[in-house]
Amino acid sequence: MQQPSPEQITEALGRVIDPELKKPVTELGMVRDVNVEGSHIAVTIALTVPGCPLRHSFEEQVQSELLPLPGIETVSLAFDVMSPEEKAALTARLRGGVSPRTKGISLDRSTRVIAVASGKGGVGKSTLTANLAAAFDRLGHRTGVLDADVYGHSIPHMLGVHQRPVVVDRMIVPPVRGELKLMSIGFFLDENDPVMWRGPMLHRALEQFLSDVHWGELDTLLVDMPPGTGDVSISLGQLLPRAEVVVVTTPQPAAQQVAVRAARMARTTNMRLLGAVENMSALVGSGEEIFGSGGGETLAAELEIPLLGRIPLDPRLRESADRGEPLVWADPAAEASVEIVRLAEAIAAAQREEGLGISKPLPLAGARAD
Ligand SMILES: Nc1ncnc2c1ncn2[C@@H]1O[C@H](COP(=O)(O)OP(=O)(O)OP(=O)(O)O)[C@@H](O)[C@H]1O
Ligand SMILES: [Mg+2]
Repeated sequence: MQQPSPEQITEALGRVIDPELKKPVTELGMVRDVNVEGSHIAVTIALTVPGCPLRHSFEEQVQSELLPLPGIETVSLAFDVMSPEEKAALTARLRGGVSPRTKGISLDRSTRVIAVASGKGGVGKSTLTANLAAAFDRLGHRTGVLDADVYGHSIPHMLGVHQRPVVVDRMIVPPVRGELKLMSIGFFLDENDPVMWRGPMLHRALEQFLSDVHWGELDTLLVDMPPGTGDVSISLGQLLPRAEVVVVTTPQPAAQQVAVRAARMARTTNMRLLGAVENMSALVGSGEEIFGSGGGETLAAELEIPLLGRIPLDPRLRESADRGEPLVWADPAAEASVEIVRLAEAIAAAQREEGLGISKPLPLAGARAD
């Protein structure tokens, strides 16, 4: 009777990818047991946590990879949980060369960090962050999103991510939606007393949290910043020193003045101002300027930064975010989606210019010397 060889089995299992860690289960040391009896093959995979929400993904993959093996007619998959030693080994493997206790965010040097900031709430930061993430994903960037708004974390809902992060031996693995990785400070805050979210304690907690998140290989990390210029924003600014900031404003002149303050704050924490975005511009269809006009241009001129995009007012942006499906994914042809993808391209292009040494250094008004 025909039977698969051990090499064939290993090769097939090598195509079963952990949906969160994005590596083959064979490479992650997760395959516990393989047994062939007649035409039946039984596999046991050791998971990082007992109730892993992505079990069905493993089930589907194991079925579809092992069923075609010669002589195999049925496949069964059982789960086990990794021992603390196995988790420690996995962590070491994933961390690779990165030192385990770097301060602040632990990211590959090549990852760009784009912080989406605003002077006040409700201007559409989270909506833009979620849709920009979808846009970068569509453009083929390996994309992550960090929801850093400690006051109200809306990004997981907007992206339709309902799983919680998996913690493997002090390392926090972001949940995924397709190729997109998501981490929210809210996941972490829920278990913490808000009282500790002040001053130095807050800073240390954020620092710890950011350094424990395992992002893996990313091209772009988008950060939804808390509104305003308070403690939290300053702490985050210090922990994301490489971040490039996109400042969001509405077309209203008053909103633009508030945005200037946020931009100044970004500069004092040594983040690079990349450009301004006007959100809630003319209403799609009628072109009606419900929130006035000119805010984006004025802000960009005042800060001497480019206006990277103007995103129209479109109720579908809100509806799709409420449904957990960013409009850029739900309807890429919608005018607002087209403008957001264009904005993502402008952000990507701004990097190339920097690489060529075209962009001029920013006057760091009030910035620290270090
Ligand atoms: N271009 C747009 N067209 C229509 N509605 C929009 C647009 N941008 C944002 N919205 C809606 O405006 C509201 C506020 O947006 P959002 O929550 O993204 O703002 P925010 O700046 O993140 O707010 P907060 O400061 O509270 O975190 C939401 O209901 C959102 O759906
Ligand atoms: Mg928000």
